[in-house]
Amino acid sequence: MSQEHQEQGCERTEGAEVVAHAFAPGKVILFGEHAVVFGHPAIAGPLEEGVRVTLEKNASGGIAIEGCDEVSALARAVRRCLHEFRLTDLKVSFSGDLPRSVGLGSSAALAVALVRACAAATGLMMRPQGLIERAHEIEREFHGNPSGVDHSVAFEKKLMRFVRGQRGQQIFLVKPLEALIWVVAPRGSTREHVASVGELAATNPKRVEKIFCAIHALADSAVESLERGDYERVGHAMDENHRWLQELGLSTPEIDDACERLRAAGAWGAKLTGAGGGGAVVAICEDASALARSLAVDPARLLMTRWSSSA
Ligand code: PMV
Repeated sequence: MSQEHQEQGCERTEGAEVVAHAFAPGKVILFGEHAVVFGHPAIAGPLEEGVRVTLEKNASGGIAIEGCDEVSALARAVRRCLHEFRLTDLKVSFSGDLPRSVGLGSSAALAVALVRACAAATGLMMRPQGLIERAHEIEREFHGNPSGVDHSVAFEKKLMRFVRGQRGQQIFLVKPLEALIWVVAPRGSTREHVASVGELAATNPKRVEKIFCAIHALADSAVESLERGDYERVGHAMDENHRWLQELGLSTPEIDDACERLRAAGAWGAKLTGAGGGGAVVAICEDASALARSLAVDPARLLMTRWSSSA
């Protein structure tokens, strides 16, 4: 593998049946989901778990997409991406350990891995911004109007402050930060929840803008607290962000209960993460393994991550 391909995070296997494959991680939003769609900042970081896309030669010709309905958004996204890279006669398959449709950025991870794999297959050395923009276009097939936070984190693999239309800025931590993610319940599509917040913003613009401005202020103060290592303060701000998401009608009794249990078990703060209406909660804490052990929850529903600026 060339140095350049390593930097792209993808691999190319010459002369073998596998043409290229690439991995991209999921993400978790600590602050600013929904507000970010309207131009306010979000803070989000990568997960260990993600999506791997493999491109293999298709001996029977044309494009074959494994395990997916030909009329699905996934099929449209894959065909569009392969067409843009002028690739054909490939079999496309997906694997990975990221729970889907629970607010952890699985479609963005897929879009980023797909774009990286296609770039590797063509041997094209694209600028990072070019790859991010292509992934954003591909993600539109799933979400219609994504802010870009999910695929920016999937691409950069860093804890970052993100504003729509701009490249994310890494947040530099003075000490590692651990997070526990609890997949609480299935939920509807991001597209539906973003649309419902859009309707609320259209019918009650003052109220929604007031909420988004409050979330914006929490995100800004959290960047400073993160960079100072004041994680208790970050946790309080996450609790507050959760209250605003409740006010937007995005939480559920199960999500609220999970947040309460995480706080009672010693988390610095806990909130809904992602589009809402179910899905997952994120908590930050001193020791994510200890926090996980203290909850009587099926370990398959818990994910852990640790961010540090040296990683
Ligand atoms: O698709 P999810 O649940 O990971 O949420 C994405 C975050 C939103 O702010 C709700 C949408 C967006 O495009 O930023």
